[in-house]
Amino acid sequence: MRWDVIIIGAGAAGLMCAAQAGYRGRRVLVLDNAKQPGRKILISGGGRCNFTNRLAGPHAYLCANPHFTKSALARYRAQDFIELMERHGVEYEERDHGQLFCTDSAKEIVRVLQTECDWAGVTLQLRTEILSVAQGAVDEERFVLHTSRGELTCQSLVVATGGLSLPKLGATPFGYRLAEQFGLPVRPTRAGLVPFTLHTQDKDDFAELSGISLPVILTAEDGQQFSEALLFTHRGISGPAVLQISSYWQAGQAVRINWLPGQDVSALLADWQQQHGAAELKTCLGRLLPKRLVEKLLERSGVANKPMRQYGHGELAALVQLLTDWRLLPNGTEGYRTAEVTLGGVDTDALSSKTMEAKAVPGLYFIGEVMDVTGWLGGFNFQWCWSSGWVAGQFV
Ligand code: FDA
Repeated sequence: MRWDVIIIGAGAAGLMCAAQAGYRGRRVLVLDNAKQPGRKILISGGGRCNFTNRLAGPHAYLCANPHFTKSALARYRAQDFIELMERHGVEYEERDHGQLFCTDSAKEIVRVLQTECDWAGVTLQLRTEILSVAQGAVDEERFVLHTSRGELTCQSLVVATGGLSLPKLGATPFGYRLAEQFGLPVRPTRAGLVPFTLHTQDKDDFAELSGISLPVILTAEDGQQFSEALLFTHRGISGPAVLQISSYWQAGQAVRINWLPGQDVSALLADWQQQHGAAELKTCLGRLLPKRLVEKLLERSGVANKPMRQYGHGELAALVQLLTDWRLLPNGTEGYRTAEVTLGGVDTDALSSKTMEAKAVPGLYFIGEVMDVTGWLGGFNFQWCWSSGWVAGQFV
């Protein structure tokens, strides 16, 4: 059967693109091997989908070409998606750092996207395996797809198959293989927005802190910083600060932890010496940090607990370092099993930033997470799906 546009992947990016192309009068088919569209949307944001971020902009994306996201993010902004939600009566709430979540359920987002696709006359075909893709002979049939449900042809082929995170939800490397088949470079992939695992000694030491969450500043070796919460788990460390920094971390590198963000720790220690000289360090620190953490930090660094007035200059300097610049060497990450995103992917140098079309293969488009564009935690990844899907939808 012949189509103008075939989109592989009925996720966030694929559904957005499909509706836009449909509204332009294109005959659009969306294929997916799953039995339900938008499964990652449904489980995202703890079931409430953090669907965008008011502060979305190129600064919040990792991409080998830092300029690539500018055009699409400017043409389809967070505000455009918010207005789409409002037109469909979706209630939402704003949390810290500009993050917008559904008040009710992530199902609302899938409902909106499906409604838009219905209105635009898009056909959705689920439970379909794509067995092969070949280049066709004529312009109207540039691509020939052999699927588990027959042969299909199309003029524009959009790859929206996402990344490798959450394999149990059916993530596949299909998009990367297809890019390679057509001669497009794919940048190495790895798990992003993912908890760290710890080396045995650290894991044993910190096991009893499991469940403690506190605000910190985490710094990666390249200087990237995030000021959010860190959570000790029975496997390692997690929480927003850790997920964020994991996208900037390479195996073998350390991360630095400031346990007292927003405090002038040198001044604080000096104040305790003068005002509370008889009070022990643990007691003073215990007013600002969880007591179990204080004990563990002092034990690990060999700093003696004694009355504040007994600390000398050298010891105070060591304490400042311990509290504001503590080095931790993660063992690794929990990998794609729990990662929210995949770093790397189809190299954006091979794509047009205006249309998402492959420069060397007319009619072939890549959108969403399959590309080498990864957002911070906080709704930025969905915004990339909306923006890249929307712009491609104007050209396919
Ligand atoms: P997506 O993965 O959504 O869709 C790809 C589609 O392609 C799927 O339907 C899949 O079945 C289909 N497919 C794959 N291979 C195929 C093949 N070989 N043949 C046919 N079909 C195939 N982001 C955010 O901004 N806010 C949030 O709150 C969250 N929360 C969140 C929680 C969790 C647990 C995870 C794992 C991820 C998030 N994310 C997130 C990230 C976000 O979910 C992700 O970036 C987008 O879903 C990516 O959308 P895509 O449309 O690119 O791919």
